[in-house]
Amino acid sequence: MQALLTAGGHGTRLRPITYTLNKHLIPLANKPMIFYALEKIAEANIKDVFINVNPGDKEIFQAVGNGKRWGLNVKYIEQTGGPKGLAHILKIAQPYLGDESFIFYLGDNLIFSSINKFVEKFEREKYHSLLTLSKVKDPQRFGVPEISKDGKILRVEEKPKNPKSNFAVTGIYIYSPEVFRALEHIKPSFRGELEISDVHTWLINNGYNIGYEEITGWWKDTGRPEDLLEGNDLLLRYSGPNGKIEGKVERGVILDGKVTIGKGSKVFGKTIIKGPAIIGKNCQIKNSFIGPNTSIGDNARISESEIERSIILANSFIKSAGKKITNSLIGEGARIIPNFESLPSGHRLIIGKDSQIEL
Ligand code: TTP
Repeated sequence: MQALLTAGGHGTRLRPITYTLNKHLIPLANKPMIFYALEKIAEANIKDVFINVNPGDKEIFQAVGNGKRWGLNVKYIEQTGGPKGLAHILKIAQPYLGDESFIFYLGDNLIFSSINKFVEKFEREKYHSLLTLSKVKDPQRFGVPEISKDGKILRVEEKPKNPKSNFAVTGIYIYSPEVFRALEHIKPSFRGELEISDVHTWLINNGYNIGYEEITGWWKDTGRPEDLLEGNDLLLRYSGPNGKIEGKVERGVILDGKVTIGKGSKVFGKTIIKGPAIIGKNCQIKNSFIGPNTSIGDNARISESEIERSIILANSFIKSAGKKITNSLIGEGARIIPNFESLPSGHRLIIGKDSQIEL
């Protein structure tokens, strides 16, 4: 078994962050998102991993390298022609994958449980493809399977108005090389992409053996800012940070719940940090309330601020002076400062294209 992991795409829904940072490197609980997928793949004892990247992308290689850190052998495939859909990734990867089965893992998917049982079931049942399903409240947003009484997937409908089940097909699939046959038959969709659900429909209609397994713990597809915040909540709460205090915490500071503080950081003044929360390395936090469900990247300078349920990237400077920051995603090196020293008073915004501010 090999793995094909995605790390390309447009990342439109996460702009402006994705103008300067590949979506898969956005830190959740202070760790690049794609590292969680690599950990799951390594845990399933899969060694050979191909990562699909956009043409010319160097960022992912710089962060992941050859994969030895996880005991993996990582190679990179450029999606020639650019991001033209998930099935297009399969087409480009076919010469690399050869005649072996593989797990197709979307690098922006987070899952709590291990993936071992999916691999085992795929091999035991000799499926041509195994789809992993997760129960969701809003199946209309996903690919939704219709499942027969005897437990067979009859079809998968993309974003249906009247979903036939409350399952979503997640971004973790396992295929035998037979999947490539489907690629000869599918055509680009109305949005000009080769769609993965068309691959599944073709396999089902042509009598291939498609199985499924439910993901029982949590699963999160992190395409939108609110999904990133939810993913961050889940990782802070159920895995991720170790709760170690390696920085300096002065007397008088209150730490409540699972709080992790990195080396070289200093927390002082009248500060309260309510877990789950993580503070990176070399940060300074003074007279502030932080958390719960908050991740602060390395080298942040935060004073006189109240920050709740947010992801703050590295090198940011925040002095919000009485204005609470909640449910926010703050990019690297951003500055949030009070303006009461200059007139006329009001919100002074210097923000880039596609930013979103809620005042
Ligand atoms: P999506 O989240 O469906 O698409 P996207 O990343 O382009 O984001 P947006 O819709 O906000 O513009 O992609 C799912 C995963 O597949 C994600 O890991 C990105 C990756 N991907 C590619 O690598 N190549 C592609 O052609 C596409 C469409 C996605």
